[in-house]
Amino acid sequence: MSSVKVAVRVRPFNSREVAHKSSCIIGMTGNTTTITNLKAGPKDNRVKSFNFDYSYWSHTTPADKKFAGQKKVYSDIGLEMLDHAFEGYNVCIFAYGQTGSGKSYTMMGKNESGQQGIIPQLCEELFMKIKDVKSDKDLNYSVEQVPTVANYLQVHTAAYYLEVHTTANYLEVHTAANYLQVHTSANYLQVHTAA
Ligand SMILES: Nc1ncnc2c1ncn2[C@@H]1O[C@H](COP(=O)(O)OP(=O)(O)O)[C@@H](O)[C@H]1O
Ligand SMILES: [Mg+2]
Repeated sequence: MSSVKVAVRVRPFNSREVAHKSSCIIGMTGNTTTITNLKAGPKDNRVKSFNFDYSYWSHTTPADKKFAGQKKVYSDIGLEMLDHAFEGYNVCIFAYGQTGSGKSYTMMGKNESGQQGIIPQLCEELFMKIKDVKSDKDLNYSVEQVPTVANYLQVHTAAYYLEVHTTANYLEVHTAANYLQVHTSANYLQVHTAA
């Protein structure tokens, strides 16, 4: 099994995109994602195809057979991470994309039924698993033994020097500072600075 997996996800149009009557140029079939260049000439290759470990079609609604919701993303990615964590490996998800592309929605989601992202679903199952193994005398897990599972670090920066050392459970830094240094073990720290 590969130690690095790459997934892409397409979100629904936001209200601005709907108002602009945008066309969706992304297509997904299985693990393949296609991008159509609407400006390409008739002789050009308008459609480019890319293969990923997972291509998540979340542009429509659950009524669509192809639709991939929060549960599907978690059951492919989160569950596998949780299994590896229980085997004693460190695991990490790196969510990359433009602002508004759906990183926070995928990672945290919303506190509504079916809308929870990978982290809350993973935490819920983590504690359930720990409870299950407690009934087995030969096995013992404690939350301290798997602390990295619940850490969440979010950094948006245009700084030319940024240094963050953290064991925070949730750290969010958006900065355009020239020099920012944060050392923290706070449970929740949020810094937005353009100083
Ligand atoms: N797969 C999705 N399904 C429904 N809404 C989504 C999805 N992805 C993103 N959104 C919505 O789009 C907006 C921007 O997403 P967000 O996760 O905040 O972006 P980012 O963290 O990448 O800046 C939010 O209102 C979010 O709820
Ligand atoms: Mg975000």
